[in-house]
Amino acid sequence: MTSFKTLTMTAVLCAVAAAAVAQTPAEQAVNARKSLMHVMAFNLGQLGAMAKGQMPYDAKAAQAAAGNIAKLATLDQAALWMKGTDHDADPKSHALPAIWQNEADFLGGFAKLASAAGTAEKSVGGGAETLKAALGQIGGACGGCHKSYRAALN
Ligand code: HEC
Repeated sequence: MTSFKTLTMTAVLCAVAAAAVAQTPAEQAVNARKSLMHVMAFNLGQLGAMAKGQMPYDAKAAQAAAGNIAKLATLDQAALWMKGTDHDADPKSHALPAIWQNEADFLGGFAKLASAAGTAEKSVGGGAETLKAALGQIGGACGGCHKSYRAALN
């Protein structure tokens, strides 16, 4: 008799196999890192919306958004930036080959972002007027890396 556990395991393996057929490991890495970037952009967008008055200022929510970016920036990035996944190899990626020529500097960009967002996390609870400086710090760290390592988006 087929147990529920066996059926579940079969279903899981089928799902993994389907995902593998649909996407190569390189495509999965590109999609995963873009998703990470979008979660960062969502959190930065929350701070931006509060700064512009499109969302009411909320000290806790602002701290959470900055804190989320700081945490995301400390994830181990190694597997996401698999060799051979620059935009010459995969036109869906905007990653420049320079990433793999200056890996330490590139990864250092995430450390800079973690530090900027960590500083912002401490300040943004202090009132809506703190948002502008925090946005500048965090946005500068995003932009600094994009300038060197991301091809222009079109
Ligand atoms: C250390 C480098 C680095 C940092 C820091 C960084 N990014 Fe990126 N980002 C990249 C690279 C490289 C790409 C291109 C990835 C690809 O297309 O494969 C990218 C792509 C993106 C994209 C486009 C994703 C897509 O679907 O094409 C967005 C949005 C983005 N980043 C937002 C942000 C935001 C917001 C921050 C800061 C909170 C940030 N990034 C910080 C390197 C960085």
